[in-house]
Amino acid sequence: MTPPFPTPPDLAGHPYFQYRNNVLYAEDVPLDHLAERLGTPLYVYSRAALKAAWQSYCSAIGPRPVLVCYGMKANSNLAVLGEFARLGAGFDIVSGGELHRALTAGADASRIVFSGVGKQAWEMRDALRAGVKCFNVESVDELHRLSDVAAHMGLRAPVSLRVNPDVDARTHPYISTGLKENKFGIAIGDALEAYRTAQSLPGLRIVGVDCHIGSQLTDISPYFDALEKLLDLIESLQQAGIAIEHLDLGGGLGIRYLDETPPSPRALLDRVFERMNARGQGHLQLVLEPGRSLVGNAGVLLTTVQYIKHAEARNFAIVDAAMNDLLRPALYDAFHGVQPLHPRAGDPAEYDLVGPVCESADWLAKQRLLTIRQGDVLAVESAGAYGVTMASNYNSRGRPAEVMVDGDKYYVVRQRETLADQLRGESLLP
Ligand code: LLP
Repeated sequence: MTPPFPTPPDLAGHPYFQYRNNVLYAEDVPLDHLAERLGTPLYVYSRAALKAAWQSYCSAIGPRPVLVCYGMKANSNLAVLGEFARLGAGFDIVSGGELHRALTAGADASRIVFSGVGKQAWEMRDALRAGVKCFNVESVDELHRLSDVAAHMGLRAPVSLRVNPDVDARTHPYISTGLKENKFGIAIGDALEAYRTAQSLPGLRIVGVDCHIGSQLTDISPYFDALEKLLDLIESLQQAGIAIEHLDLGGGLGIRYLDETPPSPRALLDRVFERMNARGQGHLQLVLEPGRSLVGNAGVLLTTVQYIKHAEARNFAIVDAAMNDLLRPALYDAFHGVQPLHPRAGDPAEYDLVGPVCESADWLAKQRLLTIRQGDVLAVESAGAYGVTMASNYNSRGRPAEVMVDGDKYYVVRQRETLADQLRGESLLP
């Protein structure tokens, strides 16, 4: 049997969630207060943590020409988007729905890049109408469709090609996207030809080169493997008379879930600029699309222990959050720390934290040493990224509420989904 995971002792990587007098707080708000008032499961975010994560990019950038486009698929709550818009972020979107959300939250369209392999004509039209900065195009077919759509509107769509540099991001296979086996991007060897095609189409204007090699990267070297290949491509483009304004390196910087030591934005940026300058491309604007590293450790998911079950092979803590609320453990075998809101004295036992959904994959944590009882509330850590955005109504469970803590105040930024909400739009047969 594998040994139980150690529990991180003091949430050291998560400074905005700390114990005071044996109660877990988000900033200056005791989390048990929120659980009592708003119920569980409940996503709780820290506004200060969002700002600090944003600031870590800003201070690494300094005066250099970098546009940070928040990869909003990580967390697209309006309040989160609004906060980043206020801070000056651009946005990386992948659908017409995300465009609508970003604009509703006050995003500046000229700082939006539109990624994704399957853009539909209506999504292209909406984005052109809004005036986005760039379409990150992922296939030659898409180039043709985008040119048609734009030309029809009397416009030229700004484009980058998302190039697949065939590098191994050394992360979970489901979130690795830069290998030639992946569906993403245009193979680097075919890129020059695709740029020539783009140049020949009437509805397009070439503005950049783009890649995104994967997510939760904890090793910095894959970025540089990709960067060198992109810089080679940019040189070939320049020789072919195709000028580029920006280089988009995508998102992907990892966060600490357990004991990872992901590179900081500064470690990444200093070396990226060093390489760009060394290759004579320091004049290019750099675009980044971080998602997880801006929001992941700015959120926790609160859940209440419903039942304790001592089965033959395992102890189960059956909680009121499930895979429909936080899919990452079921889908990627992902680790999320678990902390009680009120740590208890006494000998811990080893528990699997499981939800009420009728699937064996419905677990949130395995083999954790905890001292808990029925009714205790637990915080599932690092739930700010790819939590709510991947939530579903499976088993007809309403999606959880979301609340933003700001100092000693808090704001419910999304109501808990009601039973009526769940039935909206459905009907019986006549
Ligand atoms: N740009 C593009 C084109 C992307 O596909 C992604 C994420 C990002 C930016 C943001 O990447 P980040 O900085 O967050 O790593 N659901 C998975 C992660 C999927 C990531 C998909 N693409 C998870 O929960 O780990």
